[in-house]
Amino acid sequence: MSELTGEVARRRTFAVISHPDAGKSTLTEALALHARMISEAGAIHGKAGRKSTVSDWMELEKARGISVSSTALQFEYDEHTINLVDTPGHADFSEDTYRVLSAVDTAVMLIDAAKGLEPQTLKLFQVCRYRGIPVITVINKWDRPGRSPLELLDEINERIGLLPTPLFWPVGIAGDFRGLLDCTTGEYVRFERTAGGATIAPEEHLDAAAALEREGDAWTEAVEESELLIASGQEHDEARFLAGETSPVIFASAMLNFGVRQILGTLIGDGPAPGPRALQGGGEREIDDPFSAIVFKVQAGMDQAHRDRLAFMRVVSGVFERGMVVTHAQTNKPFTTKYALTVFGRDRTTVERAYPGDVVGLVNAGALAPGHTLYADRPALFEPMPAFAPEHFRVVRVDSASKYKQFRKAIDELDSEGVVQVLRNDIRGDASPVLAAVGPMQFDVVAARMRAEYGVDARFEALPYTLALRTDKDSADELGRQRGVEVFTRSDGALLALISDKWRLQYIERELPGATLEPLVAAGDL
Ligand code: G4P
Repeated sequence: MSELTGEVARRRTFAVISHPDAGKSTLTEALALHARMISEAGAIHGKAGRKSTVSDWMELEKARGISVSSTALQFEYDEHTINLVDTPGHADFSEDTYRVLSAVDTAVMLIDAAKGLEPQTLKLFQVCRYRGIPVITVINKWDRPGRSPLELLDEINERIGLLPTPLFWPVGIAGDFRGLLDCTTGEYVRFERTAGGATIAPEEHLDAAAALEREGDAWTEAVEESELLIASGQEHDEARFLAGETSPVIFASAMLNFGVRQILGTLIGDGPAPGPRALQGGGEREIDDPFSAIVFKVQAGMDQAHRDRLAFMRVVSGVFERGMVVTHAQTNKPFTTKYALTVFGRDRTTVERAYPGDVVGLVNAGALAPGHTLYADRPALFEPMPAFAPEHFRVVRVDSASKYKQFRKAIDELDSEGVVQVLRNDIRGDASPVLAAVGPMQFDVVAARMRAEYGVDARFEALPYTLALRTDKDSADELGRQRGVEVFTRSDGALLALISDKWRLQYIERELPGATLEPLVAAGDL
């Protein structure tokens, strides 16, 4: 095995998808504890001493207690290199989410045992399904009263059509979490609580007879429940999991560190290693081809001390070495990678080498935008990321003429980062572009960042449109003359007709049967 294939085989790149409050930050911390990156958990556990977590960085995030940014955490665990890519935690679906999930090979769907499937989990899951990403289900907070395990699995099966297969089944009801039945070996893993859940929970492994003696009915119930599922065809099957048909289920308590080792073990044992990626126009870039990477996220202003722009790329093929000069496929220009970093929250470390599956942050990456390709030696161009149909539209203006220059800069930079789509036309002019978003919270992010990073207080005014359709030059004039329609150019060059509502659209389609009006990919269609 070459060095490269060896490195790729021991890599796992994943994201946690969850609804806010399901325990993503707590789990991230528990993983860091297991990887011995930190010696004690507790920054997040417990309100009193709660510090802002490693992945929270913006004022807006602090105010809302959410994470809007995307960062990646790399750690070594059991002879594997694990990349955990952070998903945006806000309740809106946004294009960010899709882009981040396009950079991972596995998703961990984290569910609160008392709440079951929640809206944000569902949306994120739909993105995983659309992209064919295998999903490991983790039912969290089993140390607290919650629903019955069978009911939770039924809900997953019925609402999202993913067949859950028990891998580590709880011994003890929700609120009385004693340990896990390992459904593969039939063994009982009994956990011991540690003070405040600050350290790894010691495990005791018992065979079935000893488990029965120790736990009595709780053990019998766990065995019966898991056997019932397996008898009805819900047995873990690697191929079906990788095909996105089934999802192995692990019960856990991120707070007590129960089940965390099992999550890591499943990720390593069953999660796929990085593989080839589809190229535009057909074919694939194989992992042992020359270096290539896809940019999935661009962001600026991560903290006040570093006001630069960072582009995050996922290495797709070959070996990345810091300092190598690569080609930016979209402009055909060379790009120097002298400043390559791993970034997690406020911590930055220089990266010297990276392999397929790894995430690298590139500093001052002005020309790079989400979906762009970088390569060395042999050209590559990956399939672009879809721009989703915006459903919310606002005109944005700045009152003070002295701030106009910063305003323009802010709009251009937030546009190229993909924070929001920017639409322009001659009638409105550059002073009042239209911002188009998939979810309205994108506007809050724009407003907060304009204020914090550019010192600009912008005014937003809602527009009476709810639909955006792609049109072309031949249809633009005619459409523009219709009531309830306005035509704009998006910064990627696409011509978009904004239309007030579906009735107006039906009317226009009748009046102008020859006009080009094509739907864009809707987030809700995923
Ligand atoms: P998020 O990143 O997904 O938004 O969730 P986060 O980790 O911040 O967790 C949300 C709350 O849930 C936190 O409580 C956290 O301590 C708690 N939590 C996370 N995992 C577990 C678990 O396994 N068991 C229990 N019992 N709680 C868990 P908090 O913000 O401090 O509020 P509270 O717990 O005081 O209400």
